[in-house]
Amino acid sequence: MLELPTILLICGLLILAGMVILPIFFGAPWHPLMPGTIRRILRFAEVGPGETVCDLGCGEGRVLITAAKEFSARAIGVEIDPLKVVLARLLTRINGVDDRVNIVRGNLFDFDPGSADVLYLYLTHQAMDKLFPEILKKLKPSVRIVSYRFCLRGMTPEKVSEDKTLFLYQLDKGSKINSYY
Ligand SMILES: C[S@@+](CC[C@H](N)C(=O)[O-])C[C@H]1O[C@@H](n2cnc3c(N)ncnc32)[C@H](O)[C@@H]1O
Repeated sequence: MLELPTILLICGLLILAGMVILPIFFGAPWHPLMPGTIRRILRFAEVGPGETVCDLGCGEGRVLITAAKEFSARAIGVEIDPLKVVLARLLTRINGVDDRVNIVRGNLFDFDPGSADVLYLYLTHQAMDKLFPEILKKLKPSVRIVSYRFCLRGMTPEKVSEDKTLFLYQLDKGSKINSYY
């Protein structure tokens, strides 16, 4: 017969395994970022006050919370894992930014990121290939797309970080959005 602490430990490990492993089958694994990395991403994207940052696969929402708290942005994220959605909503409340950060539970492939000034992505190449180029139809021509770790196939970045982990893409450099198809 197992004792209560052992049962709780097993449940905790199963939940954690679910949070890490299940998303791999939907599009991208979970990999929490260090606070310094989150700030570096938002600075790289040049997020400004009042802009809307969108994170597809927002995890526990820390990029969005930092965008709202430290960069005075508005933020919206979609996450498939219900546990991370609960955690993200809790963290927005704890950080006092729940009026500016909207966490949606859902599949990023069905989500409309049309309000984004900055679209932030930390997904796998497979997920990116599924998203692009279709997603370009839904985006503002002025959007800045920032991808962490994975570059976008067939698109030339405007800016690449020194360590080649961050890629910024802009659609409004004199090109019509349709020219990307
Ligand atoms: C690498 S993590 C990035 C988390 C967050 N964007 C960040 O940068 O800290 C990828 C996230 O995407 C989520 N995810 C994977 N597939 C998804 C899908 N189809 N729809 C919504 N979220 C998804 C995972 O649950 C995970 O939280």
